[in-house]
Amino acid sequence: MATVDPQNDVLHVVGGKPLGGSIHVRGAKNFVSKAMVAALLAPGVSVLKNVPEIRDVQVVSDLLRLHGVKVNVQPKEGVVTIDASTVELADVADVDTLSGSSRIPILFSGPLLYRMGEAFIPALGGCRIGSRPIDFHLDTLRKLGAKVDKEHEAGIHITAPNGLHGAKIHLPYPSVGATEQTLLAAVLAEGKTELSGAATEPEIMDLVAVLQKMGAQISVDVDRTIRIEGVKKLKGYTHTALPDRIEAASWASAALATHGDIYVEGAQQPDMMTFLNVFRKIGGEFDIRDEGIRFWHPGGDLHPVAIETDVHPGFMTDWQQPLVVALTQAKGLSIVHETVYENRFGFTRPLVQMGATIQLYRECLGSLPCRFQQRNFEHSAVIFGPTPLQGQIIDVPDLRGGFSHLIAALTATGPSEVRGISLIDRGYEDFREKLVALGANID
Ligand code: EPU
Repeated sequence: MATVDPQNDVLHVVGGKPLGGSIHVRGAKNFVSKAMVAALLAPGVSVLKNVPEIRDVQVVSDLLRLHGVKVNVQPKEGVVTIDASTVELADVADVDTLSGSSRIPILFSGPLLYRMGEAFIPALGGCRIGSRPIDFHLDTLRKLGAKVDKEHEAGIHITAPNGLHGAKIHLPYPSVGATEQTLLAAVLAEGKTELSGAATEPEIMDLVAVLQKMGAQISVDVDRTIRIEGVKKLKGYTHTALPDRIEAASWASAALATHGDIYVEGAQQPDMMTFLNVFRKIGGEFDIRDEGIRFWHPGGDLHPVAIETDVHPGFMTDWQQPLVVALTQAKGLSIVHETVYENRFGFTRPLVQMGATIQLYRECLGSLPCRFQQRNFEHSAVIFGPTPLQGQIIDVPDLRGGFSHLIAALTATGPSEVRGISLIDRGYEDFREKLVALGANID
């Protein structure tokens, strides 16, 4: 993978100018990478469309190629063709070069067990927004009959001496990744699998749709139970990825924070309803069209809100950070209770340095206590506004926090230097070009 020159990893931003214009959002980062892994289940060709040019796609392509899979990426067209007719065991040292680059490699476990009889998973990366353990993933794999060997220093070695077989699995928390793990590992298992306490995010439902196209038997009940009847084999798929509702909401928040007006082509209402309700409560306006959604600040005061992040259909944790920047411009006290990750408010410190008034609390400031109650995590934030923001030197901490810092720099008066912006390439396609198209003063 290309290394990043630190000199070129800085964005100079002069804020204080409303963002205005039109940008296009393509497929969801948190679906596309999983659909690419699913292609590994079938000894055939799969075609995924509406794929954004983001670093996670590059990481998964590299990992697939290391396993002998042919991957052809047409970035402009947004088409990825994956030919998994032949698969081979990757060299552990090669796989290891990808360690720390993403959380997706753990999802290779099931597909590799079917195709190769064993899997080596490198140490995982992803945003540092909490401890992010993988205990649910490993418990699930063990219940399905896998043997997990964590002795290996650089990663995990997984085998299934007697093959994978259906099982009854319950997730203590509706984890997105562990639900996807179960789907990808159980579709070809012998017999039936019942997964209770599953996550049902739209990105997961799109993965279920892909697996159904491939020949899988999966049903989803209203009570978060997913039933999978193992089948003997799967075939390749052709599928168009659902749009990235996190990226869409990020641009919507940018419009609100900068007093702007942004048409997000590709954004779709159904999976964004919870966000749209909150956006409207704050005082933002939107207009839903067939091909996208226009978001704008109508003038006047923005209103404070109290929100809690949650699993679907709740308010997404990934929507929280960009919106907090807009809340620094609302008149009064807003409260955000983060219930998905224990440590997702680190990004607020630079905002405070820029002039925001944000206080973090260990208590659950929400309607119900969450998993982090009585524990030592600052997982509630109180934001008092409106506060003018001043430009600053900011180091990007993680993907969503980093995009929020960009929004803050664009909202602030005076120049900012946002360092480490290549982290944002993990999930925001062409964000520099999009900012220019929206009239941002960046260099
Ligand atoms: N958890 C465990 N054990 C596990 C797995 C999860 O305790 O084995 C905990 C996590 O620590 C966390 C909670 O369960 O507190 C939820 O984690 P989940 O497994 O749902 O998250 P994930 O699959 O690791 C995906 C997205 C995240 C998004 C979350 C929640 C991808 C690649 N990542 O992560 O996206 O925040 O679901 O919707 O799909 C992002 O895009 O910036 C991002 C972080």
